[in-house]
Amino acid sequence: MNVSRGGQPFLVAAWSAAHLEAVEQALSRWVVAQAPAGLGDSMRYAVLDGGKRLRPLLVLAACEAVHGNTAASMRAACAVELIHAYSLVHDDMPCMDNDVLRRGKATVHVKFGQAQALLAGDALQALAFELLTPEPDEVPAAIQASLCRLLARAAGHEGMAGGQAIDLASIGQALDEDQLRQMHRLKTGALLQCSVLMGAACGSLDARASAALAVYGAAVGLAFQVVDDILDVTADSQTLGKTAGKDAQQDKPTYVSVLGLERSRDYAGELLVQARDALACSGLAETRALLALAEMVVNRHN
Ligand code: IPE
Ligand code: IPE
Ligand code: MG
Ligand code: MG
Ligand code: MG
Repeated sequence: MNVSRGGQPFLVAAWSAAHLEAVEQALSRWVVAQAPAGLGDSMRYAVLDGGKRLRPLLVLAACEAVHGNTAASMRAACAVELIHAYSLVHDDMPCMDNDVLRRGKATVHVKFGQAQALLAGDALQALAFELLTPEPDEVPAAIQASLCRLLARAAGHEGMAGGQAIDLASIGQALDEDQLRQMHRLKTGALLQCSVLMGAACGSLDARASAALAVYGAAVGLAFQVVDDILDVTADSQTLGKTAGKDAQQDKPTYVSVLGLERSRDYAGELLVQARDALACSGLAETRALLALAEMVVNRHN
């Protein structure tokens, strides 16, 4: 995609490729194999070689939009990906969604056993916060504190973990649209919005930009799970790298089961407009990467 502004082309593919490479290298450096009793191998298996890395890209794009501290943003990008990877390891376990395929390979518990999968998730969560708290000469203490607070809130009972609890409690239930939106905002939206806010927290921004990025992040975060629900019905397992058709099989309420496919697609489109409008109102000069990522979220095929 090539979004052009003021005569200067913005090549999102080149932007993503450069940042993805940096994220992969950092993750590989920080998630080490040396841990007791094979734990490092299961952690690396859970994190490396797969995943779209959307959350890290959102962190980096938001940081660029506010001209923030790049050492902090790479740590934040990797930290949120570690929380996401841990959430996937646990999400796939037999006590949750009971999935055998993730990122095109066997799930962590299938490959390493359930106890090791549980521990890999635990250790990845802890490592995320370790990454956010280097010596203060690398990242100022105030930024470290903001990043930790944002990530802890988005991962915990008011965010991902809370949303996952609602998800499990909703099996076989007929949720209304408000309940469904709330579940999706927590289980998936919180970490995605947090990615944007963490990127922004690496720099300084005024109240208007801050509010606009929060709206953008909320819209992209919700759109992400609406599209995940759609793809579960419309895509095949090979394209997704995870088992398609699981939501209906497990009787989970989703946007598709509540609104139907067409209205779900329309809703994802409306959320993209909300995200775009928020960027336009932000007063920030450089938002093209954020815009391209929102489009990617809604138009993706996997
Ligand atoms: C999948 O997230 C789980 C959800 C939150 C819906 P992604 O689709 O971002 O998974 P990866 O990281 O690309 O594997
Ligand atoms: C998972 O939602 C959200 C997480 C917090 C991991 P799903 O259960 O729909 O994710 P997939 O479809 O297994 O990736
Ligand atoms: Mg799930
Ligand atoms: Mg799942
Ligand atoms: Mg899903």
